[in-house]
Amino acid sequence: MKTYPVTRRDVLMKCAAMGSLVLAPSLSLAESVAMWERQERASKKPTPPNDIGPFYKGQAPQTSHLRAPGDPGLPLAVSGLVFSTNGEVLPHSTVEVWQADHLGHYDLKGYRYRATITADDSGKYSFDTVMPGHYPGRVGQHIHYVVKAPGHKPLTTQLYFATDPAFGGDPDHNYRRDPLLHTRELIRPVTIAGDPKEIQALVNFEIVLERL
Ligand SMILES: [Fe+2]
Repeated sequence: MKTYPVTRRDVLMKCAAMGSLVLAPSLSLAESVAMWERQERASKKPTPPNDIGPFYKGQAPQTSHLRAPGDPGLPLAVSGLVFSTNGEVLPHSTVEVWQADHLGHYDLKGYRYRATITADDSGKYSFDTVMPGHYPGRVGQHIHYVVKAPGHKPLTTQLYFATDPAFGGDPDHNYRRDPLLHTRELIRPVTIAGDPKEIQALVNFEIVLERL
């Protein structure tokens, strides 16, 4: 039997004709279908949450430079946009990050490798740090996040790295090796930039917050 592709537009038109899609009196059918399609195209999946862990400290300093000059470890620059699930960027959202140093130690007395970052007018946040080390009790290297924006649910999550030896080069299949990691989505590819004397890892981590 020959089949024909049915578009979202066809389905909505049929629903309207059959009475299972009811429009507000102020909306035309053509307008409504166009808006529906636009909204669906723009919608983004919320970033999965992940445990806050035992090492969070509030009131981390406002800075985007977690790495001090001369700090050992692989320099790492993380950046990304903060979005709402409707696809709009969220300017001035607050991004709190904290992580272990390159040897896997958290600073519990002070605020090394802890920061509060405010996204700019275009919803972009960025910070310089080092690749976090492994530490006992955790399998994967990670950076903790708490992200907040007005009108949106606060998100607690973690960023992981596709280059982590724990994933054996195949994070798609091996992400469950970290018992706290329930989704592949939080693992990001790593780009190496710079010259041989001074290389830097670059990671993009887009955040999508759910509306309240
Ligand atoms: Fe941690």
